[in-house]
Amino acid sequence: MTADTPIVRLADVRLDRGGRAVLRDISLDVPRGSITAVLGPSGSGKSTLLAALTGELAPAAGKVEVFGKPVPQAKKALLEMRKGVGVLLQGNGLLTDLTVAENVGLPLQAHTDLPKPVIRRLVEMKLHAVGLRAAADLFPRELSGGMARRVALARALALDPPLMIYDEPLTGLDPIASGVIMSLIKRLNDTLGLTSIIVTHHVHETMPVAGHAVVIANGGIVFSGTPAQLEASTDPLVKQFLNGEPDGPIAFDAVARSQAA
Ligand SMILES: Nc1ncnc2c1ncn2[C@@H]1O[C@H](COP(=O)(O)OP(=O)(O)O)[C@@H](O)[C@H]1O
Ligand SMILES: [Mg+2]
Repeated sequence: MTADTPIVRLADVRLDRGGRAVLRDISLDVPRGSITAVLGPSGSGKSTLLAALTGELAPAAGKVEVFGKPVPQAKKALLEMRKGVGVLLQGNGLLTDLTVAENVGLPLQAHTDLPKPVIRRLVEMKLHAVGLRAAADLFPRELSGGMARRVALARALALDPPLMIYDEPLTGLDPIASGVIMSLIKRLNDTLGLTSIIVTHHVHETMPVAGHAVVIANGGIVFSGTPAQLEASTDPLVKQFLNGEPDGPIAFDAVARSQAA
């Protein structure tokens, strides 16, 4: 992989779920060091796209490359690749019986042979990076929503992954906590030299930190460009999404509606 090899590259990808194409003709390059926002209404396939990057879902057509190589299908190679990808999934996934420090240390326990005091030190550094060094010995129930999200973020960073993937990092957070999380994502990306992909329907909170924005709707990419270009777009699909209008060319939750009917 050379310096200008995209960290993530999708070429003509189709992704199926439950025997149905969720996304078609997806082509996307994510350059090293960038923050890319993948935007779209709920049910548009954002989490499905992430599942293809982590190798949880194999593409039905096309190519998915991470770190310049196809996402492996073989279990061992896939686990190895995943060590390089920090994932903050919807919901924090913290274990309630473990302290903050123990939660953050889990990936280090699982994937390294480092002695306990070294793990403890690395955990302190990760907690420091998210501004929570003092919270090491608290339990998840003692944390606010924003703090719990930051602990999950520290855990995703535990193995120093060059690529970070965030699935709806603002869900359930108030505006102040949302601002804290977004600026933290930006600061970590820039100071640690990461590449970040943020999947979200929170356009207005995400645009200030993103260098590139992709909008998915109706089963494909309907916009790809800078946040300024997104703001200026006159595409009816894009405008409908940005303005949160229920009626327009985007078939919002079309499947859910027809199933409910
Ligand atoms: N495991 C699955 N089996 C069948 N359909 C699924 C599965 N996961 C997601 N879907 C469907 O795929 C579509 C996209 O879902 P998802 O990627 O979760 O959307 P988003 O993250 O943008 O809200 C939805 O219609 C959803 O119902
Ligand atoms: Mg989702």
